[in-house]
Amino acid sequence: MLVTAGPTHEPIDPVRYIANRSSGKQGYAIARAARQLGAMVTLISGPTKLAAPENVTLVSVETAREMLQATKDVLPVDIAICAAAVADWRVAQEGGQKIKKNGGSLPQLDLVEHPDILKTISRPGPKRPQLVIGFAAETQNLLKNAQKKLRAKGCDWIVANDVSPASGTFGGEQNKVLIIRAMNDEEGDYEEWPLLDKDEVAVRLMRTVAKSFSNKNQAAE
Ligand code: C5P
Repeated sequence: MLVTAGPTHEPIDPVRYIANRSSGKQGYAIARAARQLGAMVTLISGPTKLAAPENVTLVSVETAREMLQATKDVLPVDIAICAAAVADWRVAQEGGQKIKKNGGSLPQLDLVEHPDILKTISRPGPKRPQLVIGFAAETQNLLKNAQKKLRAKGCDWIVANDVSPASGTFGGEQNKVLIIRAMNDEEGDYEEWPLLDKDEVAVRLMRTVAKSFSNKNQAAE
């Protein structure tokens, strides 16, 4: 399986970049839990301070474009979990030299949007993983926004978490999530899990994945 984790850094010039507050903890915990259950795992990670999980293939990337390429290089896999907080934008023209202050006029940064890695992986095709799981970090209307995201991305499950400042999720040790699964109806079904350590969320998620995955494969036999 493949797991994406962490933020991406998008250079503005050789000394500055656009980033976000993702620590990578949840994605790394998922990679560890999957490995412990016996999966062969490739973890594609943006810059984090975390140690590489044992017996997991770690591919370190910096930018969203590198993460997309690394993801394509790892396919096909059976299961893909996109936990990375991929930057939505990069600057259209990266400065070759440090942009200098010039006493008055401010630099204009034109942004371009990144391709969506989760959406790309979720597209039907011979390399589509059997199970694709995305994350939805929301600060309000968690369930509604996550249901919308499930449809928009075309993935099978969404793990939705509240990242409002009061939740302490970004950089913190705990996470409170909803697991939403695509069904034939518009909204899918969902389970609400209690506030848990990110490690516990990961173990529970991977047990649920393993169960659903083996049921699916038994049904297909
Ligand atoms: O649209 P939004 O960024 O909120 O969606 C979050 C989900 O989409 C996460 O699973 C994230 O890893 C994935 N994503 C991605 N590539 C992007 C943007 C988001 O894989 N460019």
